[in-house]
Amino acid sequence: MLTIALPTGRSLDNCVKILETAGLPVEKLKDAKRNLVIEEGVYKYLLAKPTDVPYIVEWGGASLGIVGNDVTEESNARLVHIADTGLGKCVMAIAAPEESLERYEIAGNAKNLAGLRVATKYVHLAERTFKELGIQIKILKLNGSIELAPVQGIADCIFDVVQTGATLKANGLAVVKETLDVSLHVVARESAVEINEPLFAKTVMAIKNSL
Ligand code: PRP
Repeated sequence: MLTIALPTGRSLDNCVKILETAGLPVEKLKDAKRNLVIEEGVYKYLLAKPTDVPYIVEWGGASLGIVGNDVTEESNARLVHIADTGLGKCVMAIAAPEESLERYEIAGNAKNLAGLRVATKYVHLAERTFKELGIQIKILKLNGSIELAPVQGIADCIFDVVQTGATLKANGLAVVKETLDVSLHVVARESAVEINEPLFAKTVMAIKNSL
């Protein structure tokens, strides 16, 4: 049996599509209801919070995982990258209230932005990204509804994932800078890659060939 960790929420439909296209059984997975562990044929699927998928794979709870590279970049889990599925495309971006956009001419303006208050749930990725931009920031860690922070004036901007842009627009925010292309990636546990059991190898090959 091979265990694969999958993210709950808006990415799950794309994950089902990836597995189905690769020829893996997904009938029960499509009808998971509140079940967190679904066994189908020789596969066991685990349904986890997206941010937990990298750690579940790293700690050996699953041999494979599918998760956005926004999440793997934020985590410090040791994983082997298997493939970029190209599905679930979105971007990491800095966004700010529309009326404040003039402030953010990032190139050459880093000093003026020193002390910028950034709301995000991606603390590590934000630290790295703003460091690369040469901007010293203060981070307000939130766990969701990040857009609230600039709307309420408790942060100057947000650093978050943007898919359709609808949430930004609805809250009077606009993209200042896109910093990372994001999509769903297949990742594996290091030891699973080293051991490379037949079912693991066959599954990895099937997924790669179907992309
Ligand atoms: C994410 C993200 C944005 C939104 C972007 O939140 O944090 O709020 O999606 O998507 P859009 O560009 O299509 O509007 P999510 O829905 O995962 O919920 P959260 O606010 O609880 O993190």
